[in-house]
Order: sequence, then C-alpha cells, then structure tokens
Amino acid sequence: MDPVDVRCAQRARERVSLHEVAWQPYRLPHPFVLLLLVIAMFGVTFATSAGAADAAPTARRAAQLTYMVRQDCGSCHGMTLAGGLGPALVPAALKGKPAAYIKQVILYGNKNTAMPGWSPLLSEADAEWIAERLLTGFPDGR
Ligand code: HEC
Repeated sequence: MDPVDVRCAQRARERVSLHEVAWQPYRLPHPFVLLLLVIAMFGVTFATSAGAADAAPTARRAAQLTYMVRQDCGSCHGMTLAGGLGPALVPAALKGKPAAYIKQVILYGNKNTAMPGWSPLLSEADAEWIAERLLTGFPDGR
C-alpha cells in the first residue's frame, strides 16, 4: 500500500474509535462515590438547620415571635401582658427572676398549671429572645 493510503486508513480508524468514545452511554459514578455524595448532602442540610436553631432569631422571626407573644401568650397573660388567667409578664412583675427560669417556663410550661410548654413551636433561641425582652419590656409589634 502507498504510505499515504496507510496514513489515511490509520486516521479513518482513529476517527471511528473517537466516535465510539463520544457515543458511549452515560455511566453513573461508582456507587461508593454516590453514597459519599448523599452523606455530604445530608451533612450540609443538618449543619445549616442546626445552625439556624442556635442562632439568634432573624428580624423576620422576631416579628413572628412578637406577634405570637402578643396574641397567643396574651390570651392568658393579657394583651398588654399585665396579667389575666396567667400572671403579669411586665418587667416590674418579673423583676429578680432569671432569664434562664423564664426561658424554661416558656419552653416546658409549669406542671399542674394552665401554663403550657411551647417547645414544639419555639426553639431555645426563640424562648431566650422572648425571656430577655419580657424582662426589659416587650416590644409592641405594631
Ligand atoms: C393557657 C394559658 C396560658 C398561655 C397561652 C400562656 N401562659 Fe404563661 N402562664 C400561664 C399561667 C396560668 C402561669 C402561672 C403558672 C404558675 O402558677 O406557676 C403562667 C406562667 C408563665 C410564666 C412564669 C411567670 C412567673 O412570674 O413566674 C412565664 C414567663 C410565662 N407564663 C410566659 C408565657 C409565654 C411567653 C407564653 C406564650 C409563648 C405563655 N406564657 C402562654 C398561662 C398561660
């Protein structure tokens, strides 16, 4: 065969093999790699949600909490928190009570009283935020 023909034939073969490579069906990564990816995704999700629970409430959450305290807590403690079925929650009434105690009552309630625990609805940071503000004068929210 003429040397030029030989090179042509070689190139033709190369072209065919390149073509084959390009048209290989997509192969999934090794199952172990997939498993690592899934674990990493769960890790990121968990880290961000746990971080959100610990961080101080955002402005949006603070507005929600203010509304909730005025409406839900207010239904027992009075809309102005000056007392009703439940005792007054104004700074003068709470004077000397530690924020940690107030936070505890908010989260877990007082046994054998009408005061319910709010831990299903409030995070630790939420309860802390409310406790601190009850002690210093709760925001109006209007
Ligand atoms: C169903 C009525 C009711 C609701 C709703 C309610 N409370 Fe109470 N709360 C009470 C009663 C009754 C007490 C008094 C319990 C006792 O005698 O120990 C109390 C006690 C407390 C105390 C302790 C006060 C003190 O001087 O020791 C805090 C703080 C408090 N509530 C905060 C809240 C907050 C914040 C909310 C809303 C997230 C809320 N409460 C919702 C009825 C209620």
